[in-house]
Amino acid sequence: NQSEITLDKRLHKICELLESNVDHYNWVGFYFKNGDKEELKLGPYVGEPTDHTIIPFGKGICGQVAVSNQNFVVPDVSAQDNYIACSITVKAEIVVPIFVNGENIGQIDIDSNTPDPFTEADERFLEFVCEEVSHILA
Ligand code: SME
Repeated sequence: NQSEITLDKRLHKICELLESNVDHYNWVGFYFKNGDKEELKLGPYVGEPTDHTIIPFGKGICGQVAVSNQNFVVPDVSAQDNYIACSITVKAEIVVPIFVNGENIGQIDIDSNTPDPFTEADERFLEFVCEEVSHILA
């Protein structure tokens, strides 16, 4: 389907722009609700490949955001017990949900190799990015 190819390319471009322009963004990707299932599926991303292409709701930082509908800022991933490690180089993570018509349909997930790098400015900026993404998904 032509429009889906274009959508994935646009989302991938957003990942590239974020990863290449922000020093403390080292892995940038989208996860989306997988149809009617209570799980997330990996979408376009930039960075090291991950084994975690499917994440059940409630599992890890991503799975928790699928349920909480709230941003999740993790300054130190080693201090989290409900965490799914993708790479040993990752020190911190931020996940911001994407809403379409008020429904949490996915999220942007960013890993950092820098300890405690994320500020409220990252949250506001990524909320803006997610808002823009929700318009291209709607
Ligand atoms: N660390 C995430 C899993 C996804 S990887 O960061 C790409 C988590 O705990 O949900």
